[in-house]
Amino acid sequence: MCGIVGYIGGQQAYPILIEGLSKLEYRGYDSAGVALLCEDHLEMVKSVGRLRALEEKVGATDLVGTIGIGHTRWATHGRPCDENAHPHSDCTNEFVVIHNGIIENYQSLREWLQSEGHTFRSETDTEVLAHLIEHFYEGDLKEAVRLVIDKVKGSYGMVAMSRYEPDRLICARKDSPLVIGLGEGENFIASDIPALLKYTRQTFILNDGELADVTRDSVIIENGNGVPIDKEIIHIEWDVLAAEKDGYEHFMLKEIHEQPKAIRDTLRSRITADGLVNLDEVKLTAEQTKNLLKVVMVACGTAYHAGLVGKYVFEKLLRLPVEVDVASEFRYRDPLLGEDTLVVVISQSGETADTLAALRLAKEKGSPVVAVTNVVGSTVSREADQVIYTWAGPEIAVASTKAYTTQLIVLYLLALHLGQLMEAIPNEEVVLLTQELTQLPSHVDQILRQANELTEFTSRLSQWEDTFFIGRGLDYAVALEGSLKLKEISYIHAEAYAAGELKHGTLALITENIPVIALATQPQLYEKMWSNIKEVKARDAYVLAIVMEGDRETGKEVDAVITIPATIPLLSPVLSVIPLQLLSYYAAVQRGCDVDKPRNLAKSVTVE
Ligand code: G6P
Repeated sequence: MCGIVGYIGGQQAYPILIEGLSKLEYRGYDSAGVALLCEDHLEMVKSVGRLRALEEKVGATDLVGTIGIGHTRWATHGRPCDENAHPHSDCTNEFVVIHNGIIENYQSLREWLQSEGHTFRSETDTEVLAHLIEHFYEGDLKEAVRLVIDKVKGSYGMVAMSRYEPDRLICARKDSPLVIGLGEGENFIASDIPALLKYTRQTFILNDGELADVTRDSVIIENGNGVPIDKEIIHIEWDVLAAEKDGYEHFMLKEIHEQPKAIRDTLRSRITADGLVNLDEVKLTAEQTKNLLKVVMVACGTAYHAGLVGKYVFEKLLRLPVEVDVASEFRYRDPLLGEDTLVVVISQSGETADTLAALRLAKEKGSPVVAVTNVVGSTVSREADQVIYTWAGPEIAVASTKAYTTQLIVLYLLALHLGQLMEAIPNEEVVLLTQELTQLPSHVDQILRQANELTEFTSRLSQWEDTFFIGRGLDYAVALEGSLKLKEISYIHAEAYAAGELKHGTLALITENIPVIALATQPQLYEKMWSNIKEVKARDAYVLAIVMEGDRETGKEVDAVITIPATIPLLSPVLSVIPLQLLSYYAAVQRGCDVDKPRNLAKSVTVE
């Protein structure tokens, strides 16, 4: 997501900050800023756009100083603009802060600080940190930061600097990485290792709850109780490219592994203490929702597949008919829309031309539009009536992984939120589902740890030019995504079939040893799936089954099995897609494909 860089030492800080930030550009950002301690005052320059825009702005000023902080922002709270870019300062410009993560209780803190006379300049959650430091400061920046982190809920990697204490930078971390690079008479801070590698390979890696007091000649790290910790110095062996990928060979693999965090972030602060769903961003009233006759989901590619899962979920929970359409079809079929039809557009980038056209059409016809997107400030987010963000962080690999799973999470939350408003789902059922939703990150983690179980099947798969994915119900929706993923990055031709439909057409293509991936995670459909698995086994296919813990039968019928942790069947797509993502990834690697940039595919398609 956002990038953090800090420097304190004997050299001019500004070129080091810019160099460090440029090494974090790969993470995606929409604005940038720096703050330096210039003699006796703090100087701050911020600009929307690329680093070059910031450098042009700085060009006109005189940023001289040997202590400073810099940040690249990927908008979460508040659109991308100069004011919302970091650093943020307090009312007096004596304290500045850069921050990655989300301050969940920022709204109430902001209101409280305003009532205390503080004036805010941005729409960000981060700005409360600067004002809180101002509020608590009594001559020791570290102590002020400690009081601030006691007050805030959420995630943070933050660095604070003050004009009053020109010899120190204070860092704190919870659920958002921070690394300290150790030099001679100088020290560096960064959210990610690539920003440091030009200067040092000796590092301290902060853990959650730790606070660091960084001066030119020392780094003191304390735990949450203020007790100093003897930290081990970690020597970084990676090269710059590996560091950008956090040590993973490709961005896609890194993003697959980021899913537990992405799901957690997307759920964060959207489930209340009593287990109900609270989506503030959806402005539909109870009356409006009760008058809805239909829901239409519109999207392209992977986002469309998320919509297919959404259909099952909405229909099951809300008993409301749902249509799902690819945006390029929807816009030309003169769809039946109106104020009783809720249109949900789903787009990772928020810039896909067809999805945007569908959104505009729906608005024109008077339908309320909810957008699900990953990019704050994107065109879709600006034009939709209401936006629910997936907090997946920038997705760099062209093939979508963490965007898809977080889209599913948002669709579950939206269904539950609407269900509460419509009084269509009893509260006990909502609580049960939200409890299970919060378990999903650790379940995903568990599947990721079993990745090696896929090795043998992947070796077979990567030698074939054709394969089949079969499933029923929700499993069919996931099969479609699995097959798309495999095609996109390994160029193996794959067909996803509703398992019951095979015999109505393509069963003839099931030949000896052809790999078939059978998803069987829906207990009410087990027996039907077993028949379909038998059909392909009878033609000597080599079958890998994706089953749910507790199912002892399906595995007996097949050649290989991957077991996902037990969850409510309605939520299984978030889990069953993970082995399919890994399968595609490893098959593509074995075939020597350019995984992160597959041929003929663009990450964001802004033309029709
Ligand atoms: C492109 C990408 C796909 C993506 C689709 C929709 O085709 O290659 O991975 O699913 O666009 O993108 P969106 O940003 O609207 O989700």
